[in-house]
Amino acid sequence: MRARITGTGSYAPPKVLTNRDLEAMVATSDEWIIERTGIRERRVAASGEACSDLAVRAAEQALRAAGVRAEDLDLILLATCTGDYPLPATACLVQHRLGAVRAAACDLSAACCGFVYALSVADAYVRTGMRHVLVIGSEVMSAILDWSDRNTCILFGDGAGAAVVSGVQGDAGILSTHLRSDGGLHELIAVPAGGSRLPLSEKVIAEKMNCVKMKGNETFKVAVRMLEEIARETLASNNLTVEDIDLYVPHQANIRILKAVAERLGLPLEKIMLNLDRYGNTSAASIPIALDEAVRQGRIKEGSLVMLGAFGAGLTWASALIRW
Ligand code: COA
Repeated sequence: MRARITGTGSYAPPKVLTNRDLEAMVATSDEWIIERTGIRERRVAASGEACSDLAVRAAEQALRAAGVRAEDLDLILLATCTGDYPLPATACLVQHRLGAVRAAACDLSAACCGFVYALSVADAYVRTGMRHVLVIGSEVMSAILDWSDRNTCILFGDGAGAAVVSGVQGDAGILSTHLRSDGGLHELIAVPAGGSRLPLSEKVIAEKMNCVKMKGNETFKVAVRMLEEIARETLASNNLTVEDIDLYVPHQANIRILKAVAERLGLPLEKIMLNLDRYGNTSAASIPIALDEAVRQGRIKEGSLVMLGAFGAGLTWASALIRW
């Protein structure tokens, strides 16, 4: 039995925040943001719109595309670092709203790698007997940004993507997944306060310690190295080469990171799915949104060899190889 992605879906809130809008908020410019990141605009959730609201929309679309009923789901895995509440898991809220009455539900925390990590868990469960697992990446990054910090607030956006993973016979499906971590680099991207180390207080909120802090330049360098390394490992373990890849669907953080990785791997840019210009970095949602757009645009067809590649806070990095 193989685990196959039988349907995808995505949702981004309608409100668009352009680089020009950001010029009015911090000392930055449209030109600087486009040149250094490739991002032109991002989506921002409405006031009161939370992670589960976005997740449900993406999930409903994925279930429709897969032709799977919510009642038939065995498990819902929601990758996020911006859940509705610290407790309970946002996946439970999604389970209830979808009417997935038989499904177990839990969140998975692996930052921007969350979707690929969750896909790997789904793959393992489906190959050992589960029939249908719903994997979602959903983020409201706007809720954890310091909107006065130009180093971070220009990079991120809100959105959700989902995939139904089902057990099927045959050669198509998830061929392999590869997961890595290095907690020695946990300070490169972090939200320092709001957990048990530094609980929320007036002081930490005043200091914006409950918002994303990032060492962008160092992150950039390790990201390039990690994405290249894990892509090579993934191909080697399947006895395939870069030429075999039909579409690379990477985490959408920065166009310069992806150009550097493409150059190192010898992968033409046309084989990379890019939509970061319209969404920015949506953390765990970025890969499933890009995957869904690639499917709907016809860039992924039955038989296509698709590689996913992610890196993020933790640090974590991950990949998956899929015969569609
Ligand atoms: N607008 C204008 N100037 C800015 C700016 C902004 N939004 N943000 C930073 N700068 C300035 C810096 O203050 C610095 O000025 P200085 O030289 O006077 O000190 C200068 O631009 C260069 O900063 P630096 O951080 O070296 O730029 P960079 O080329 O590394 O680009 C990032 C910054 C954040 C775009 C880039 O490092 C990056 O994308 N890193 C990876 C981040 C990432 O992907 N994180 C998510 C991981 S999941």
